[in-house]
Amino acid sequence: DFELSHASGRMPLEVTEATEGPSGLGMSSLLKETGHVTLDPGFTNTASTTSSITYIDGDAGILRYRGYPIEELAEKSSFLEVAYLLIYGELPTADRLRGFSDDIRNHTLLDEKFRAFFSAFPRRAHPMAVLSSAVSALSTFYQDSLDPFDPEQVDQSSIRLIAKLPTIAAYAYKTSIGQPLLYPDNSLGYVENFLRMTFGLPTQPYEIDPEIVRVLDMLFVLHADHEQNCSTSTVRLVGSSQANLFSSVSAGVDALFGPLHGGANQAVLEMLERIHKNGDDIDSFVRRVKNKEPGVKLMGFGHRVYRNYDPRAAVVKKATGKVLEALGKSDPLLDLAMRLEEVALSDDYFVERKLYPNVDFYTGVIYKAMGFPTNAFTVLFALGRLPGWIAQWREMMNDSSTKIGRPRQVYVGPGERHYAD
Ligand code: MLT
Repeated sequence: DFELSHASGRMPLEVTEATEGPSGLGMSSLLKETGHVTLDPGFTNTASTTSSITYIDGDAGILRYRGYPIEELAEKSSFLEVAYLLIYGELPTADRLRGFSDDIRNHTLLDEKFRAFFSAFPRRAHPMAVLSSAVSALSTFYQDSLDPFDPEQVDQSSIRLIAKLPTIAAYAYKTSIGQPLLYPDNSLGYVENFLRMTFGLPTQPYEIDPEIVRVLDMLFVLHADHEQNCSTSTVRLVGSSQANLFSSVSAGVDALFGPLHGGANQAVLEMLERIHKNGDDIDSFVRRVKNKEPGVKLMGFGHRVYRNYDPRAAVVKKATGKVLEALGKSDPLLDLAMRLEEVALSDDYFVERKLYPNVDFYTGVIYKAMGFPTNAFTVLFALGRLPGWIAQWREMMNDSSTKIGRPRQVYVGPGERHYAD
């Protein structure tokens, strides 16, 4: 057994074979008693997995990709550099980065048939639902890159996904507001191209504030991986059946959709808007949260892994103020969010429970300032998370000991029953 790295913030100490609990009921009762977790290859991909991509120390509030602290990557590296780092394990040389970026640039276009695909959805379709359907549909168009054990095909499908996801995301948005789709402009950088396809119009030149491009790129870096979260473990689980990369990532998009995962950034903004609209007093709102009043939740606070400030939230909080300043805007929702944080963190209830703002707490405000509608926030999370999903899927596929994932079940239903009863 080794101590749970999430809870303890420590790296695995010692691994031994799994054993049955004393009662013979399996490990679950033992787990409750000891706070330990067992690395059992029989549970691969579901109850436990090893990985060398992302390290989190939830007690200390540390997050690293391939050993590099998230704060440094956010400041010094572009999203495509970080994507390369996550997927291939090393930061790219200038030449490698150029080659990688050129490959991506060459694949930004979507097949023309996709136009009919987007227009077939109802106008009010949530863009996350459109995104996952479109990603799944990529395996119908690119049947030459579906073999999970052919390294060239895996590289090809990885590049296609990274290149096409911004185009798909922009088209999902454009269709939902009834505007014409713009072809990618490959003279632009990755994020700039996405912003133009999202907000540009065919008849007008699109001016993009370079500060917005830089900050959105940085937000993608912050979201690029987060070890075995719900969507990533879904990607691994689906991939463990040897499903192709497009299908596995499409399942990850669906997992991210939920309000307890990626959808939380949308839920936070909706909460802030409600508080603002109702003119709620923050102290009394926080009191109602503590009293667990039905329907009153402090969204974007607390995290299964962090017992400390989520390092990503700290970076986003700083960037939000800067973006608003650069745009010459102010937003009462940012003041509200900061006041909520202040009130909560000076209250023993939150301090004792170690509940801090997580990554979703400030991202909604910053996305709103950039002009994104609320239902596009989770799509932005997906764009950022894509390299992590790809890296985790590839890591699993390259591990010859990988077995199909199958959560262990402990049966708790009725014993044998007779139909006549
Ligand atoms: C994430 O970035 O995936 C979220 O913080 C959720 C998680 O890690 O469980």
